[in-house]
Amino acid sequence: MNGKGELAVSRRGVIVGGTSAVALASLPATAQERVPGKPPAAMPVKFDVNGKPVELTLDTRTTLLDALREHLKLTGTKKGCDHGQCGACTVIVNGQRINSCLSLAVQHQGDSIKTIEGLGTPDKLHPMQAAFIKHDGYQCGYCTPGQICSAVAVLDEIKAGVPSHVQDNITARPRVSADELRERMSGNICRCGAYSNIAEAILETAGAKA
Ligand code: FES
Ligand code: FES
Repeated sequence: MNGKGELAVSRRGVIVGGTSAVALASLPATAQERVPGKPPAAMPVKFDVNGKPVELTLDTRTTLLDALREHLKLTGTKKGCDHGQCGACTVIVNGQRINSCLSLAVQHQGDSIKTIEGLGTPDKLHPMQAAFIKHDGYQCGYCTPGQICSAVAVLDEIKAGVPSHVQDNITARPRVSADELRERMSGNICRCGAYSNIAEAILETAGAKA
């Protein structure tokens, strides 16, 4: 009998078993029932999208992005990389911007979600949408909904005093500037390279100068 090896194995067994038990206990009942070879577990989820209450029953693996696009047909939010790299899927959840491709829909019980469709209408554009048009802040337009949602939330972040890496003094209140915008919008990629026009649109919306 190898006492040391046996002890190592049983220790690992205890840790794995314990971790799995904790993980399983924290899962909702429907997720616990999932077994290999069976259809994926589904869960009901309720949230508010653009001011309207929504109820869906979703595969627990559904991202918020897919819930919006595939289940609610809100296709303004775009899927670029689907890996949190491009920002095309940016939406505003409870006032904060997120990459909806990185977030499971069932994590958003009770949340308030705003997409590009909820920011303005063709007859009554959000000031950020109008500024993007005025400054030609797009070319193909694929990144634009994410850029606009992100830009709207960025101005709120700055107003709320959320610091960034480019502030000289991290304790001072941030101000809208070209450097701040470049830093804060760095997660939103534009393959058409409309960056300078996007920055001008955001600066104008904020009432700041380039
Ligand atoms: Fe979400 Fe690219 S699609 S970050
Ligand atoms: Fe084409 Fe940004 S306008 S990717």
